Amino acid sequence: MIILRKVEDIREFLEKRKKSGQNTAFIPTMGALHAGHISLLNSAKSEGHYTICSIFVNPTQFNNQQDFAKYPKTIEQDIYALEHAGCDLLFLPSTEEMYPNGQKSTLQYDLGYLETILEGKYRPGHFQGVCQIVHRLLDIVPTDYLYLGQKDYQQCMVVQKLIELLDIKTTLVICPTQREASGLAMSSRNMRLNDTEKKQAAKIYETLSHIKKALKAGELNEIKETATQKLIDAGFTVDYVEIAESSSLKIINNWDGHMPLVALVAAYLNEVRLIDNLLITN
Ligand code: PAF
Repeated sequence: MIILRKVEDIREFLEKRKKSGQNTAFIPTMGALHAGHISLLNSAKSEGHYTICSIFVNPTQFNNQQDFAKYPKTIEQDIYALEHAGCDLLFLPSTEEMYPNGQKSTLQYDLGYLETILEGKYRPGHFQGVCQIVHRLLDIVPTDYLYLGQKDYQQCMVVQKLIELLDIKTTLVICPTQREASGLAMSSRNMRLNDTEKKQAAKIYETLSHIKKALKAGELNEIKETATQKLIDAGFTVDYVEIAESSSLKIINNWDGHMPLVALVAAYLNEVRLIDNLLITN
């Protein structure tokens, strides 16, 4: 695996590689890699793409400074895991390299409704930061395919919107959430949980599965309230339990029994904020 740290170097490298004609797949990450990230890489490799990963903990997408400071960093292990999984190229830039003119963005991305709900509502500025870094990364690493995980459902929709807004020539590929045997969605933030908390955290998936099973056409308020209470009883501080139209994230309070839905949860277990979602199709 080739490791490049400078914008200039990766630009030059990718420009020369263009002649090969092989499609590229880009998997941007913030490190602390787990089987979910590796599944994105495996999926891209199985398509025969040249695989490029990046590791950069982007400060501008953290609305909470403590969360940023405590974000797990396991760079040696990450490099080993990527090498072992057959990643072709790793981009490992510094903050100065990514933000040579400072972190304040001169652009405001018009995300509309998507920024007013769920993660957008509970983490003000978060998606502007995500767009800022994804825009910068895609400018440095132009790619045929961009791979993201379904675990960050709303982020996938935001990035799709960004691609359309800026007319970026890439195709977004969304890969399924990888889960522990307990159902817990794999996440870098799980590294901040102890064993007891990890068991407790599996309640999120249990709750989403319960919603999926119990869902019937009609009013959805009761089902959302019951699910929220389940999480509170299990020791969570809940930001939201929501059910939305899967294609638009429009919040649904009354279901026609046919529209494809997604159930989404964000909740704190002690200091650690966890998110997960489950698609519901009839
Ligand atoms: O999902 C993530 O890890 C990050 O939000 C991303 C897409 C790498 C941007 O920093």
